[in-house]
Amino acid sequence: MSEQFIPEKYKVSISEGSVCWQAPSNIALIKYWGKKEIQIPRNPSLSFTLSACATRTSVHFSERKDRSSGYSIDFYFEGAKKEEFLPKIHTFFDRAEPYLPFLKSYHFEIRSENTFPHSSGIASSASSMAAMAICFVDIERQLLELPDEALDLKKASFIARLGSGSACRSLDGKIVEWGRHEDTPGSSDLYGISWELNAHEIFTSYHDTILLIDKGEKQVSSTVGHGLMEDHAYAEKRFNQAHDHLSQLQQAMSTGDLDQFVTLVELEALTLHAMMLTSKPSFILMKPNTLEVIRKLQSFRESSGLHPCFTLDAGANVHILYPENEREQVYQFIKNELVDYCENGGYICDMVGDGAKKISAVASKTLVK
Ligand code: DP6
Repeated sequence: MSEQFIPEKYKVSISEGSVCWQAPSNIALIKYWGKKEIQIPRNPSLSFTLSACATRTSVHFSERKDRSSGYSIDFYFEGAKKEEFLPKIHTFFDRAEPYLPFLKSYHFEIRSENTFPHSSGIASSASSMAAMAICFVDIERQLLELPDEALDLKKASFIARLGSGSACRSLDGKIVEWGRHEDTPGSSDLYGISWELNAHEIFTSYHDTILLIDKGEKQVSSTVGHGLMEDHAYAEKRFNQAHDHLSQLQQAMSTGDLDQFVTLVELEALTLHAMMLTSKPSFILMKPNTLEVIRKLQSFRESSGLHPCFTLDAGANVHILYPENEREQVYQFIKNELVDYCENGGYICDMVGDGAKKISAVASKTLVK
């Protein structure tokens, strides 16, 4: 199946060039938690693509004379050279090389920066892997002598997945599904597909205010976290439940049923944490303020008749999701009642977005046919 991503013979050789892309983060509504190698998900997931939280990556490539000695990479994060990130990039290159066979032919200078503060506790692997993947797929597009419009977004998602599973949901907008699912034609374990056209329009301008309850380092890396599902007592039930939740959520999102949306999204977030609470070893990643925020939000929803809901990643921060037509009242409530629970009052206003975008195309210097 992955053979479809092995390229045909490159048409031109390029001695030097640069590409630059920005890819956003995403927030899962149906959670990916549990995987087989390499980032083959144990259940399908669905996410909102975000826009404000993003990674911008540029890749400068120059032809190498000596190709015998592995990869040649310099990596800079926010302007500073970071040797410590190289092992992760090498692993990513090893996985991607069968599909991007030019990776040993060039020296790469990769420069990456986030649009959100590094210390915010917001996971950046999805946006950073997505940005890097699309840069390489764009370089390959040039080697295949294809026009800009022919860039293969599906391949970029496939390559991003080899770096981090959730990254494959950060290429396209505004709602992306990843993982084989009976009710979704075209769904695949290998890459994400946009589900936007099936959704009621209320979901195409949704807001996500991210409350930074705890800016600390993640207590559980996602690799360890996914591993906890291996011999988890509830694993099979959970994987089946995700399929059912996805079908129900798709129904709610195509008709614009906000009550059902709220119920399912919150149930998914709590199930993710329930899995961590009941794994061996177990993890309690919510903080007292996470629970306070959830309690306050739910009682505001009841008294106001509005539809904000929460979701969580594998951490203490809370994402508050709400539709554009409720923005004023919900945002006021967040500012007045919830921001006090955030570490140093930190929060990020984000909303659904369109996926990766090209920042610049620096013309390649030499084209040899
Ligand atoms: C809780 O994509 O970070 O955010 O594939 O090991 O890189 P790896 O894991 P990662 O896992 C994300 C888990 C989650 C839920 C989700 O985004 O679906």
